[in-house]
Amino acid sequence: MKQWQMDTGTVMHGVFGDPIKHSKSPVMHNRAFRELGLNAAYAAFHIKPGQLKDAVAGIRAMQFRGVNVTIPHKLEVMDYLDDIHEDARAIGAVNTIVNDDGKLTGFNTDGIGYVRSLKEEAGFAVAGKKVLMLGAGGAARGVAYALAKEGAASVRIANRTVSKAEELAEAIRPFAPAEGMSYEAIADVRDEIDLIVHNTEVGMHPKVDEVLIDTSWFHEGLTVSDIVYNPLVTRLLREAEAKGAKTHGGLGMFVYQGAYAFEYWTGREAPIAAMREAVLEAF
Ligand code: ATR
Repeated sequence: MKQWQMDTGTVMHGVFGDPIKHSKSPVMHNRAFRELGLNAAYAAFHIKPGQLKDAVAGIRAMQFRGVNVTIPHKLEVMDYLDDIHEDARAIGAVNTIVNDDGKLTGFNTDGIGYVRSLKEEAGFAVAGKKVLMLGAGGAARGVAYALAKEGAASVRIANRTVSKAEELAEAIRPFAPAEGMSYEAIADVRDEIDLIVHNTEVGMHPKVDEVLIDTSWFHEGLTVSDIVYNPLVTRLLREAEAKGAKTHGGLGMFVYQGAYAFEYWTGREAPIAAMREAVLEAF
């Protein structure tokens, strides 16, 4: 890859966010570069609201090869790029930028990272399966889109604000049958569900003792997945495990979204095990 051999030697990467201090992306990517012997580096940049446009111009000026974009910039950044991949456009958010000789393209690796992690770590293939999503916020969008495109038989989205669930269902309906609903309405459809995916902040540090829905009906035939990874095992997953359900934690989604970004930037297969180890060590 031509871009990979830069005149300056070290190929630069980074993550733009606010806050950014606790990001595990630098340790994860730097470990991956080291593992493959690449002369490259990755750093975190605290980009405050109002500074994003200049920061993106800096990617070109300083010839960074790639950048991740996180909260709160994933939407606004789309205004400053030269091209946006169709998946990221449909999701309405960019988390990865690739710089090809000054041309910046935006991708979204959150949803595809999630689906790959589900397959690799829980052995769960989405095609033909019936999915229940909990939550319809920004994080849920990429996941819902990727599940639908992967061939889910149906995607039901439950949310406290039902109108938001209905909007998200509408957005993914070109790719899979989808409907929005309340948490109460889960009782009517629960017998049909193969996979539950939790996408809200309930159960995330510091609210670790909370769980969003009644779990008394969980059973062995169910896979329960939580995109929360702090803590690594949430109360939802503990209760699911107690009912004999298969469980899948959120760390894998983080690692695999990074792996896709790494592969876009370097053209090399991401060293997944080393990346996961680096993140765990940083906790
Ligand atoms: P993110 O980008 O992290 O997904 P978001 O877009 O603000 O953040 O979405 C947060 C999600 O968590 C939403 O689904 C939200 O439900 P509402 O759409 O009804 O607000 C959900 N959520 C957050 N706190 C919640 C709570 N205490 N109970 C139920 N749902 C909650």
